[in-house]
Amino acid sequence: MNGIKLISTGSALPERVVTNHDLAKIVDTNDEWIVSRTGISSRRHCSGGETHAGLCLAAARQALERGGIAPEQIGVCIVATVSQDYFTPAAACLLQKELGLPEDTVCFDLNAACSGFVYGLHVAECLLAAAPRKYALVIGGEVLSRLMDFTDRSTCVLFGDGAGAALVEWGERFPSLHAVLGCRGNAEALNVPGIRTGLPSYVHMDGQTVFRFAVEALPHCAKEVADKAGIPLEQVDRFVFHQANQRIIDFAVKKLKVDPAKCTGNIARTGNTSAASVPLLLDELVTSGALASGQKALCVGFGAGLTWGGALLELA
Ligand code: UT7
Repeated sequence: MNGIKLISTGSALPERVVTNHDLAKIVDTNDEWIVSRTGISSRRHCSGGETHAGLCLAAARQALERGGIAPEQIGVCIVATVSQDYFTPAAACLLQKELGLPEDTVCFDLNAACSGFVYGLHVAECLLAAAPRKYALVIGGEVLSRLMDFTDRSTCVLFGDGAGAALVEWGERFPSLHAVLGCRGNAEALNVPGIRTGLPSYVHMDGQTVFRFAVEALPHCAKEVADKAGIPLEQVDRFVFHQANQRIIDFAVKKLKVDPAKCTGNIARTGNTSAASVPLLLDELVTSGALASGQKALCVGFGAGLTWGGALLELA
């Protein structure tokens, strides 16, 4: 068996905190509805000179520093995102320059929406097996506030900005991620229109359809990862679920019959940060000591595509 271990994490959030009360001043909503239907109290939005690349860079730098790994040791750099600064070049290419990664580093962005970070972990695991250098940066970064229609209360209250980074190492005796990835193509349920449509690039979501998909996909994917790894769910130390809606998480916790104390999240403070959601939470768990060396985190993302992805990640 060979695979990857998590060496260190990093994160970056924009300075500006946007509360539910702030949003209630610009759109017909209220704190009570948002908290009770989603669990979100506030989220961060980029302002001034803050950029997607800036957030990803700060998170990646922190992960490198904490891991004690030099840029020259990185073989793969993947940014999972749907809201990068440029269609091209990829955010990962901007990081190559700013971090000083070697020119033969495999650098690209990955669009699997809210499943993107977990997709990225699996892709990094596969690529590192063939790479000359055995460390990868996998970053999930989003500036979703740029993709919001602030007259649409059904979406603009949900999403936030931020970036989380994971530094991983591949080893011949390291455990496999036992990744489970999937897709059920559906452009109607959740989309951001591209150039061809002539429509503004705002997030459009049929919330109830996505909710029904999520409450099926999240527990099913978590169980499949544990089955693939050959361990009972009780042996998982932490569950790092995509922070889309507290009600979806509560449903999954009940269905899986896992300890709710192992499933704590940060949605109240971050909102839904799509591809950044899982790595931001992972970073909180690692830095707080809630995920300790040798422990396993079962990460699950789900969202536009419709996609899902789960992986069992061990902290070195
Ligand atoms: O990360 C990608 C994956 N995304 C998800 O997993 C999101 C999944 N979906 C959801 O989390 C939920 O469907 C939402 C949070 C988006 C919506 O919650 P809901 O309980 O499904 O609400 P709803 O869309 O059925 O709307 C219920 C009512 C409607 O009013 P009427 O028609 O009953 O009078 C909406 O107009 O709530 C109203 N509403 C709001 N009211 C106040 C919708 N948004 C708001 C709002 N403030 N922000």
